[in-house]
Amino acid sequence: MAKKRILSGMRPTGKLHIGHYVGALENWVKLEKSGEYESFHLIADYHVLTTDLDTSNIYEYSIDMLIDWLACGLNPEKSPMFRQSKIKEHTELYLLFTMLITKARLERNPTLKEQVRDLELENLTFGHLGYPVLQAADILLYKGNAVPVGEDQVPHVEITRDLARKFNLQYGEVFPEPEPVLTKFSRLPGLDGQAKMSKSLNNTILLSDDAETVKQRLRKAVTDPLKVRKNDPGRPEVCAIFTYQQRFNEESIQEIETGCRSGALGCVECKLKCADKMNLFLGPIIEKRKYYEERIDEVKDILAAGEQKAKQVAEATMNEVHNKMKIG
Ligand code: TRP
Repeated sequence: MAKKRILSGMRPTGKLHIGHYVGALENWVKLEKSGEYESFHLIADYHVLTTDLDTSNIYEYSIDMLIDWLACGLNPEKSPMFRQSKIKEHTELYLLFTMLITKARLERNPTLKEQVRDLELENLTFGHLGYPVLQAADILLYKGNAVPVGEDQVPHVEITRDLARKFNLQYGEVFPEPEPVLTKFSRLPGLDGQAKMSKSLNNTILLSDDAETVKQRLRKAVTDPLKVRKNDPGRPEVCAIFTYQQRFNEESIQEIETGCRSGALGCVECKLKCADKMNLFLGPIIEKRKYYEERIDEVKDILAAGEQKAKQVAEATMNEVHNKMKIG
């Protein structure tokens, strides 16, 4: 029997941060290593256009993101990594899917509503409203069974399931109904204490940040506002640093929680401990990043090979679609 497929993707908007890692990328690496799935990793460059029409850096950003992926341990021998815009089948399947979903269904999308609020958008483009339809085409073109994403993407996987079901009912069975796969930290808080770490909020720690930068950024991070002096008792449950400790300093978490609550542990010391652990984690990633930065031709070859493999799978799926629909 054929292996189940993972389809994962991210928008290339610059260097990745630790929220990307603990929210999704960590799962990509784990699922790929498990050998239970066949993985496809998509660089969603068309999707960037929904919120930013400036394409002048999009290629550099795509290469930079690919380097982050490789540095985190994704294996290009096992899984194709490719740009959406290189595989034209995405646009065709997207067009067909737009006929199978109502405008009202897309307007109900909570992730879209959140974006409209955060980016203070007054008017939506047709393409932005259709964002999840393009994402559904990304996933279903490769017959993805599982989609490892952050929490904010779950509504898009729901829409993908709706579209798969609708297509299969109308034209015959082609697509699986994919499931989202979440991590324990599917939404990592930002350094400013906001609910989400995000480039646009400038509250991130990048996977490529060096040890000194990590220390400085953490030093300025917002903690429990009621813990003003060192010996004041703190509330770990409202503190972003505590969440980071849970992920990067798991072995000392009991001690940190007790120290924070009693007031014995001050925020400055807690942040230093956190920075040390984060830097231990980031060290090997930065090393590997350097390797690829010095070998950009190798990175470009990885992309070209991935695009060739992805294209074959996409063509095969579209053949099935054409046959079922008697079109194309
Ligand atoms: N919307 C995703 C994000 O912002 C990126 C994405 C595009 C994606 N296509 C995908 C994720 C397909 C998973 C599967 O993170």
